[in-house]
Amino acid sequence: MAILTSKKLKSIPAEITVPGDKSISHRAAMFAGLAKGTTVIDGFLPSEDCLCTVKAMQALGTTVEPLEEVEGVGLVKLAITGRGARLQAPAQPIDCGNSGTTTRLLCGILAGQDFTTELFGDASLSKRPMKRVADPLAQMGARIEGQGEKVCAPLKVHGGALKPLYYKLPVASAQVKSAILLAGLFAPGKTTVVEPVATRNHTERLFSHFGIKWLREDDAVSVYGPQEPRATDIVVPGDISSAAFWMVAAAATPGSQLTIKNVGLNPTRTGIIDVLLRMGAQVTSSETQSEGEPRGNIVIKGGDLNATVIGGAEIPNVIDELPILAVAGALARGKTLIRDAQELRVKETDRIAAVAHNLRLMGVTVTENPDGMEITGGAKLQGATLPTYHDHRIAMAFAIAGMFAEGVTTIEGAECIATSYPGFEHHLELFLHGDTGAPPIPTITRVPPH
Ligand code: S3P
Repeated sequence: MAILTSKKLKSIPAEITVPGDKSISHRAAMFAGLAKGTTVIDGFLPSEDCLCTVKAMQALGTTVEPLEEVEGVGLVKLAITGRGARLQAPAQPIDCGNSGTTTRLLCGILAGQDFTTELFGDASLSKRPMKRVADPLAQMGARIEGQGEKVCAPLKVHGGALKPLYYKLPVASAQVKSAILLAGLFAPGKTTVVEPVATRNHTERLFSHFGIKWLREDDAVSVYGPQEPRATDIVVPGDISSAAFWMVAAAATPGSQLTIKNVGLNPTRTGIIDVLLRMGAQVTSSETQSEGEPRGNIVIKGGDLNATVIGGAEIPNVIDELPILAVAGALARGKTLIRDAQELRVKETDRIAAVAHNLRLMGVTVTENPDGMEITGGAKLQGATLPTYHDHRIAMAFAIAGMFAEGVTTIEGAECIATSYPGFEHHLELFLHGDTGAPPIPTITRVPPH
């Protein structure tokens, strides 16, 4: 088990660049694999989750060529040559690791294939509900067998001829929306997903990028099948969910100024900026590219933070940032309330229980509610030894909390950080020990010919 130690932060670096967006990297690899021809993905996130998706697409008959690796981070540029929408039956069950996105989106793709695929994952993935995709995909004509009432992994996805579906999402989930829209590519006619609350729209934006026609009417997203993506190169921006950790570190440090460069600014993901503004931080963003997936720079100026309420329609927009925003709440003056966030209980771990437990170990008063928590901010944080429950965002959120605590904070089971943020420790070093002159992202070491 890897242990990460955090201690009082030394200084906020002037600038940082975070690795590629996880949601976009997964989708880019899947769309490239479904397209005939070669797609070069640049800025790819080589995290364990996204590499599971790449290996899955390889197992399904697509070809992957590594193009560029960054030391300490991994494969950031690759070429995927797809075989069109008709994939090849894999020789073995597919390992989805810790990745809910891999599992749920693949279910949508596999529902339209004329073979059966087995999907499995780690202990955490095997507890996550897959019924939310199994039910609508069954209505389209596929059959997904899983374990127990929640239809957990291991799964058997029996694909087949699909019919289109009109489906109102019972939970606000971009993964479920995406699984149905991907299955819709195989179903002749119009497949529509109605969202109770808007969720991240990367699938829709990548549909456009890969030449898939789709339609948004109010809260309904539709795609017409059959359609096949067109191979087309793509550059992935940095992940705002990874930037979030450093944004909070800077926001809670009076007098600091941090620029995060080339980060995704898709409005369905920038809720953290609004929350930090409400808490009193000064945050500005400037787009350097607005078409496709918008991207640009974020500048954060730190100060004394005030408590806020996070809830309602804003929740899907900040769903992955809630652990670090809870830490921001602990550092703010007043009581911060997170509500309407019951989805946190079915993430990589029960993030409400995990955050409340770890904040309490650091000396913070937290009231846990079924749909969130109330955090009493302003108490002096105490260093502690903290579990991660094999959840990457819990590990990183508490590495940041450790920067504001007395003494040393020990994060146990920190290897899970590789799920979404290879190179996190290098960046943490910049904050704990100051800028030693090394570049924030290590230099490229291998560029094989394409
Ligand atoms: C994701 C959607 C969200 C998010 C996850 C990635 C995606 O999950 O928490 O990290 O890429 O579509 P839900 O769709 O379950 O809310």
